[in-house]
Amino acid sequence: MNINLLKQIPVILRSQPDPRFIAQQLRKPSGDFAKEVGQKMDIVNKPLFDLTLEVLNPNENDRILEIGFGTGKFLEKMFSIEENIDISGIDYSEEMVKLAKQNNPDLLSSDKLDLRKAESDSLPFDDSSFDKVFCNMVIYFWDHPKEHLAEIYRILKPGGAFYTGMREYESMLTFPFVEHGFNLFRVEQWENILVKNGFSLLESRRQQDAPLEIDDMKIQLISCCIAAGKDK
Ligand SMILES: C[S@@+](CC[C@H](N)C(=O)[O-])C[C@H]1O[C@@H](n2cnc3c(N)ncnc32)[C@H](O)[C@@H]1O
Repeated sequence: MNINLLKQIPVILRSQPDPRFIAQQLRKPSGDFAKEVGQKMDIVNKPLFDLTLEVLNPNENDRILEIGFGTGKFLEKMFSIEENIDISGIDYSEEMVKLAKQNNPDLLSSDKLDLRKAESDSLPFDDSSFDKVFCNMVIYFWDHPKEHLAEIYRILKPGGAFYTGMREYESMLTFPFVEHGFNLFRVEQWENILVKNGFSLLESRRQQDAPLEIDDMKIQLISCCIAAGKDK
C-alpha cells in the first residue's frame, strides 16, 4: 500500500471511530492514535484513580507498583499524599511508556519514579519487593488472570496488598467497544478469582462517579476498588 495512504488511516478512523479499533487501542495503545486514546482514558479514568488512591493510602516508605499506567498523568498525586514513597510502573505499550515519561520528568529525574516497558505476566522485579501493587482498568485485557496474579503475588511482600481498580459490570456495558475482546467481571467474580489465587479480601469500595460527556456520549459510571492482601 502507498505510504501516504497508510499515514491517513488514523485520520479516517478518527472521523469514524470503530468500536473494534477502540477496543484494540484500549488493550494496547499504539501508533498515531495512542496519544488521543490516552487523553480520553485520562478523562474517563481520573475518578477511578482517585478512588484507588484513597483505598491504597500510601504510607511513608511504601514501595508501590502500578501495572498498566497508561499516560501516567496522575502518578504525581500519590506523592502529594506521602512524599517519601517509591513508585515503579510497567506498561507494555511503547507509546504509553514514552507519554508517561514525558508527563513525569521531575519525578523521573529525582529517582522516586521508575517507568518501564514490561508485561504483567512476567514482571521484571524480585520476589517480595513491593508493599502495594495497583492497576486501574487493566484486568479486562488479561486473558489468563491466573498468570498475572501469580506474578503480582510473587513480587508482593508478605503483608502487602494488591488493589484492583475496575468499573461495575453494568457500567462497562455502556461502552459499545467492550464486545470486542474485553474480559468483563462482576466485582464478586473478581473477588472470587483473587481468593482462588491466594489473596485474602481486605476491602471493596464503590463510588458513583460524576457524570461525564465524551464523544457525544453522556455516561455515569460506578468505580470500584478491591484491596486484597498477601498473608504474612
Ligand atoms: C485501558 S488502559 C488504562 C490505563 C490507565 N491505567 C487508566 O486507568 O487510564 C490499559 C493500559 O494497560 C496496559 N496493559 C494492558 N495489558 C497489559 C499487560 N498485560 N501488561 C502491561 N500493560 C498492560 C495498556 O497498554 C494500557 O496502557
